[in-house]
Amino acid sequence: MEIFSRIVGTGRALPGKPVTNAELATRLAQSGVDTSDDWIRERTGISQRYIAADGVHTSDLAFEASGHALQSAGVSAKDIDLIILATSTPDMIFPSTACLLQKKLGASGGAAFDVQAVCSGFAYAMATADLFIKAGKAKTALVVGAEVFSGILDWSDRATCVLFGDGAGAVVLKADSTPGILGHRLHARGEFESILRTPGTVSHGKAVGHPFLTMDGQSVFKLAVQVLDSVAREVLADVGHQVSDIDWLIPHQANVRILSATAKRLGIDEAKVVVTVDQHANTSAASVPLALDVAVRDGRIRSGQRLMLQGVGGGFTWGAVYLQF
Ligand code: UT7
Repeated sequence: MEIFSRIVGTGRALPGKPVTNAELATRLAQSGVDTSDDWIRERTGISQRYIAADGVHTSDLAFEASGHALQSAGVSAKDIDLIILATSTPDMIFPSTACLLQKKLGASGGAAFDVQAVCSGFAYAMATADLFIKAGKAKTALVVGAEVFSGILDWSDRATCVLFGDGAGAVVLKADSTPGILGHRLHARGEFESILRTPGTVSHGKAVGHPFLTMDGQSVFKLAVQVLDSVAREVLADVGHQVSDIDWLIPHQANVRILSATAKRLGIDEAKVVVTVDQHANTSAASVPLALDVAVRDGRIRSGQRLMLQGVGGGFTWGAVYLQF
């Protein structure tokens, strides 16, 4: 009997109250940074984001989102035998945020580790969890994308600081004879590492290098549109499906113009694209599970429908996970 990894619960967490573009522009103006609601809205589609208060860490948001996912799945933390957490903003250098989450949840002693694939992190984590489940090495996995990106933003760089937000999304995956994840593809091209990165680190007790996010926005934009199209087609070809079989496209939420261009290239109706970038901004590894949870809880995504989840970002990395919900 074929084993599938099936999503049985989803959850999300967003810190505090939303910060609108106008509020952010007012705050930034106080330090001489010039931006506007109009620019942010027109170039990105973002109207607000959530920013964690000092002292709120990635594991806190992951814990809240995981609690909702476990509750909706009707699964106890004790039943989780695998935790994979995608983040580029871990609480600490080590231990992993997945281990900190396991402690907070009181989950069992199964494997727990982080995946670092920036905005593709959730796709990487889902594909990895699926391989564990298919191999019979895990039965009930918690897969999380969680970020406090506000902590790595250069608030004097208007070209990046207005684009990102904080949040977390989580899913519970169970081994099942009913599909389930149907296919996935992951890719990376390290030669493009410099177009999106946070090149600093900690050494000898000090931050070394530039510990803030830098991005060549236009290069990222062009590559993102190309690979989101190609990777969806690869996964569909793997499983013998067509673009018309996709009920919901859930790409990484970076820019509404990237979402529209991807839908156009794929030839999929924009009404089938889940869009949350307007509400959450770009939350990196958290963006796809956040969007998924929104569309599940508002009733758009229904049992049996086919979803294409897609990540793209720093590395340069990208990937897609195609599943029946
Ligand atoms: O999560 C990983 C994936 N990330 C992405 O997918 C991001 C991909 N890239 C993008 O979404 C877009 O490239 C951006 C939204 C980052 C930038 O949009 P753009 O249309 O490529 O704008 P630009 O960088 O060419 O900048 C246009 C103008 C510039 O002014 P000049 O040189 O034309 O006078 C910028 O200085 O907009 C200016 N600008 C701003 N103005 C007001 C840049 N940032 C701002 C700002 N407010 N926040």
